[in-house]
Formats: sequence, C-alpha cells, structure tokens
Amino acid sequence: MLLLTSKQLEELLKPELLIDEIGKAFAMFSEGKTVMPPRTVMWIENNWWGVMQAYVPNYGVGIKVVNVIPTNIERGLPTIQALVTLFDPTTGSPLAVLEGGILTALRTGAASGVSAKYMAPKAKGAIAIIGTGFQARYQLRFVSKVFETSNIRIYDLRREAMESFKKYAEDLGFNVTICNSPQEAVKGARIVIEATTTKEPVIFGEALEPPVHVISIGAHMPQARALNDEVIKRAEVIVVDSKEAVMKETGDIRFPVEKGILKLDQVAELGEVVAGKKPGRIGDGITVFKSVGLAIQDACAAGLAYRLAKEKGIGIEIEL
Ligand SMILES: NC(=O)c1ccc[n+]([C@@H]2O[C@H](COP(=O)([O-])OP(=O)(O)OC[C@H]3O[C@@H](n4cnc5c(N)ncnc54)[C@H](O)[C@@H]3O)[C@@H](O)[C@H]2O)c1
Repeated sequence: MLLLTSKQLEELLKPELLIDEIGKAFAMFSEGKTVMPPRTVMWIENNWWGVMQAYVPNYGVGIKVVNVIPTNIERGLPTIQALVTLFDPTTGSPLAVLEGGILTALRTGAASGVSAKYMAPKAKGAIAIIGTGFQARYQLRFVSKVFETSNIRIYDLRREAMESFKKYAEDLGFNVTICNSPQEAVKGARIVIEATTTKEPVIFGEALEPPVHVISIGAHMPQARALNDEVIKRAEVIVVDSKEAVMKETGDIRFPVEKGILKLDQVAELGEVVAGKKPGRIGDGITVFKSVGLAIQDACAAGLAYRLAKEKGIGIEIEL
C-alpha cells in the first residue's frame, strides 16, 4: 500500500490537470455513474466531523474522515484535518492512504476552478476573496488558472490573516488590495470567492457589480449561510455541486428555497454544466456556484494522485 504525504500530493496534483479530472468526476456524478451515499455528519465537542465515501469509475473507492475545528486557529493547527483511504473497486484491496487536508484544499480549489471555467464573465477584472485562511490560497491558485487577472481584493475579520495572504499572493505575482469590508472588496470584481467559517452572510447581493461570478465554499451547515437573499434574488444562474447535498447541508440554498425566493428546479448541478446540459453563463449578470464538498471529489483526486504516484515512483510503500 502507498502512503502519500501532503507535499507529495501538492507535487502530483497540478491545477490544470486536477480541474479537468474533477470536471469529469462531476459530470459522471450528475449522470448517475458514481456511487455516493450522503456523508455521515457527527458533532463531537461542538465540532463538525464527516465520513465521506464514494466510488468514481476509473478512479476508485475513496473514504475520507474529516473534521472542521475553527478554534484550531488559536492552537496553530489547521481548521480542517483529514485522512483519505483509497481502495481498488474490483479486488477491494486498500491501495493508498493519503493526507486529507491538502487533498481537500486541492479538490475544492479544482471544483471552484471548474465553475470559473464555465461561469466566469468574459470581462476582465479583479478576483475578490472574502476569508483569507487556508482554503483561500488554493482557491486563488486554481481559479486564477482559468480566469487571468493580476488584481486581488481581499477582506477577512483577522488582520493577520489578510497580511499573511497578501504576502503569499504577492509572492505568486499578484497585486493585492486589503479592504475594510466585504462590500468594498467585491467592488468591480469579476469573480468573488467566499472562503470563510462564517455562519452569517458575508456576501451581499446589493454590493455586487455584474458581470460577476460568485463562488461560495463556506457555510456548509444547515443553519449557516454566507450569501444573503439578495445574492440569490439577483443571480441569473445558480449552480451547486449536488442539489441533494446543498438542500441538506447549507442555509445558502435551503433558506431561499423554504422562503420561496428560489425554486430548486432553477438550480443546476456543476456536472450538468460540464456535460453541456445546462448553461453556466447566459448573459452579463450574476452567477453563483455554491459547494458543500462531495466525496466524489476526494475519490477522484485520490485515484488520480495514486495513478500518477505509481507512474513516477513517488510515495512510501508500506506492507500492512
Ligand atoms: N465546499 C467545500 O468543498 C469545502 C472544502 C473545504 C473547506 N470548506 C470550508 O471553507 C471554509 C474555510 O476553510 P479554511 O480551511 O480556509 O478555514 P480557515 O480557518 O483557515 O479560514 C477561514 C477564514 O475565514 C475568516 N472569517 C471567518 N468569519 C469571517 C467573516 N464573517 N468575514 C470575513 N472573514 C471571516 C477567518 O478569520 C479565517 O481567516 C470553512 O467553512 C470550511 O468548512 C469547504
């Protein structure tokens, strides 16, 4: 069996390739070709834990144990930690154990990249990022591969998070503007990325200046929301990773549907957009991609990393 570390995963899973492969996995998911029972959610000491399992043809069976511990910031530990196990679908043999924190950040960046590929406006402009923690770095690296810009506008509740992100992005060659509010950050942005641990809206539809594509990866709990009603009301196209999952797992879609602001049949899945069955962008308005994260993304990224690691002789072989 192969053990793959976070460093090795970073080396193997390059943005362009992973965006393509994750797009294929989303298309298979929306066509019903994958197996993915709803994830099991546990609340342990007030923190969210998930067990996520899926089979994706050509990639394998992946099972992830993941937790989100927001107070870990004070301990100097990552908010999200995880382990992924990959199995051979035919023999059932365990193939690999992979560090899951980086794998999660990479596959989440890739999903946002897929959404930007199909939904970003043609017009040039800045990328705004609200919430400049760990995921934000991967969101920037992946989304900027499909939407070229040199200008990044950021906002976070924590000054130190903004300073450290600014340095990271400047080292990558971007110009970074620190803003005083999320409303200021989204001004003139053609892509807005929300990557916070908020439970209350941080993206306000009134402040968006179309054409703009909004990507929201936070607020993945049924009572939490990152987008206010106005974002949903003004959006021309709303795309999610899974209709079933977003209705269960985020207030961002659940509340507007319950209030009658949004009908679920107006919402498309990313896989349907990739397969060309539903449009990602139809005009110069506001588009939204909301994700809560799917096990098919982990299985796809793990299967791809395993295949590439075997080809390149990367990873630590262990005998169980
Ligand atoms: N959709 C997915 O597939 C997926 C995958 C991984 C993580 N996530 C989610 O992404 C979010 C970010 O994760 P992370 O690992 O980057 O966490 P993190 O703790 O490293 O970063 C979160 C940042 O958000 C900031 N923040 C919190 N509330 C805010 C507010 N109201 N306004 C502005 N900034 C605010 C924090 O100060 C922090 O810097 C979490 O909610 C996580 O669960 C989603």
